[in-house]
Amino acid sequence: MGSMSLESELRRRVVTPADFVADTSAFVDVHLPRSAGKTSFSFIGAGVTQNEDAKTNIVEPHGFCVGAAGLQPGMINNAHLHYTAEVFVCRSGMWKMAIGLDDQLALTIGPGDIFAVPTWVFRSFENVGTSDGFLYTFLGGDDPGGILWSPRVLELARESGLVLDETEKVTKVEDVVRGALTLKPVSPEALAKIDRYSPEEIEARVVRNDARRWQEHALLASVIPQHHSCVAPVIGVGFNQHRRHHIAITYPHGFSVNWLRLDAGSSLGRHRVASPVALLAMDADLVVELGDAAVVSCEVPAGSVVSLPAGEWRDVRNPKGGPAEFVIASNGDGRCPIEWSPTLVKAARDLGYVLDASGCVAPRELVERHFG
Ligand SMILES: [Fe+2]
Repeated sequence: MGSMSLESELRRRVVTPADFVADTSAFVDVHLPRSAGKTSFSFIGAGVTQNEDAKTNIVEPHGFCVGAAGLQPGMINNAHLHYTAEVFVCRSGMWKMAIGLDDQLALTIGPGDIFAVPTWVFRSFENVGTSDGFLYTFLGGDDPGGILWSPRVLELARESGLVLDETEKVTKVEDVVRGALTLKPVSPEALAKIDRYSPEEIEARVVRNDARRWQEHALLASVIPQHHSCVAPVIGVGFNQHRRHHIAITYPHGFSVNWLRLDAGSSLGRHRVASPVALLAMDADLVVELGDAAVVSCEVPAGSVVSLPAGEWRDVRNPKGGPAEFVIASNGDGRCPIEWSPTLVKAARDLGYVLDASGCVAPRELVERHFG
């Protein structure tokens, strides 16, 4: 790929807050009094939007979808269920996250907290803070299989003038032609088959901002001073080469999530990965570089969502004077195979570190054999 086309390719994959397209009619509940005006975003993948005209920034399949919800104080996202994992990464706001049709279980999350909601339970959430709130969402699979709405939400939506048509797109009641079918609420008998969880099981699916377990030497390049980083595991193994990574949320999601922290002025180190990877810049201003011989770079302002392409050499730099924390999501529950540049592999080896047969950072003298 030429450097000009690589530059436009990179720019296309860096979705900055200025590129965000807020959708206020993504779902059937948007006319309900406390949900009117809520915004939804589709950054990567098909997601579950029910708006026929929804705009997705990056449609390329990643094995998971990335979106977001923005709600003003007091606004509610109503009870619904997903068939694949839904993971909330809180950028701002204080949120009551409720599980169950009648909010049987609830917890509060705030900035930097990650909550992985189990599949097959109803979930709703409310901005209980005093300022606008923003939640990133990961949804498992390239096609999460749509949404099961709470029957009560569908009834209230119909009273508010909105229904879902046969393709599960939001339609005004007045636009439904005579004889056309609309989505019916599921029966109480069917609802009895929904999964149930204890408060302890739900709380075990949260990784709080102040409870991350940062690990040194979780990436081969991190042993080199100018590439020093720490990794805090959240879900799956993923972008992590620590031998004793302690996965925080242990049930399988089909994708992996790790927090990364880069020292001031450091970069991750040049590497490539065989499948596309998503990066949430959170509060960090970063620079992403792409390419091998000719390197192009793009500023990544705080809040951006980045899709790092499969197979391209790249680096992620923290150009600022303080540490930068961001989230990396990769396809699959297992380790994301990272190919470090030959220069970095040699530099790490010279410092006494190599990757072992599991793909984990290890002392060179215990991996390489010596004969004499
Ligand atoms: Fe959802």
